[in-house]
Amino acid sequence: MSQKKYTSIDKRLITEGSRIDFDLFLTNETKTAMSLFLQSDSAVDGNAKVKLREVEMLYVSEEDIPRYKEYVGHHLQSIAQNSDMPTEQKGRIVYEKAAEVLDSMFKNPESLENIKNVQPVVDNFISIILHDDCAIKSLMKITAHDYYTHTHSINVSVYTLSFGSFLGIEGKDLEALGMAAILHDLGKSKVDYEIINKNGKLSDDEFTQMKKHPALGHEIALKLGITDVRILSGIRHHHEKIEGGGYPDNLKGDQISQFARIIGICDVFDALSTKRSYKDPMSSFESLSLMKQQMVGHLDMDMVRKFIKMLRK
Ligand SMILES: [Fe+2]
Repeated sequence: MSQKKYTSIDKRLITEGSRIDFDLFLTNETKTAMSLFLQSDSAVDGNAKVKLREVEMLYVSEEDIPRYKEYVGHHLQSIAQNSDMPTEQKGRIVYEKAAEVLDSMFKNPESLENIKNVQPVVDNFISIILHDDCAIKSLMKITAHDYYTHTHSINVSVYTLSFGSFLGIEGKDLEALGMAAILHDLGKSKVDYEIINKNGKLSDDEFTQMKKHPALGHEIALKLGITDVRILSGIRHHHEKIEGGGYPDNLKGDQISQFARIIGICDVFDALSTKRSYKDPMSSFESLSLMKQQMVGHLDMDMVRKFIKMLRK
């Protein structure tokens, strides 16, 4: 082997018909030398496309890794739609990109540039979920188990999209539901960092600050040009309670939109089943039991039963 270092890559991440801006290598049979398979600035078509289907393993030199990662980021849609790739693997790639996008979004929530990157993340999760009836099972293996606001937002959008699809919501409606879910806690970007990350119970004063996040999120969404009332209500009303007493608008029953009720359930489920510095995670079974037995006036129980049905499937 030469002095240069190489990393093996999954050839299914190289999209047919695309253009690469990094060199792709192969090893010889004895794995003692690397040879150039496709040069940077080439298209993956014609002969290269045929050869790509035949090779087993491809390599990228370490100096080209950043360019390769950027390429994968640009071709997520074809990766998410690739029926040859297992759901869990596609999910990990899309989840990793989603974490990057959401991290930027929370650091700079009013950036029009950042919000443009959120929609493709939602679309990619939808492609994965629609392609596999049991996608939720694979996706649950990759949802982050430690709680951070941005990964919580992704987890909630994964549960919400799966649940929405299970309830028969589709097309543009499912896209809107996914946007509402992924943005539901965006207002937390305007709440003090110390309160968001506090190790333990919040004081009354801190809780008053925390309770502002749905209305703050709604305000940011309006500034970002979001006009779909279903998305706006999903963000503003995900902490309302079926019997009243929730915040910020103290709504009741049917006054709480379908999107807000779905997101409310997925939000509670993720909060219970992830680890916080002050509590251990609950298993899915324990989380669902608690939701069913102790949150009767809080969540829409008819929907909770359907959510349990989806996870049992
Ligand atoms: Fe929230």
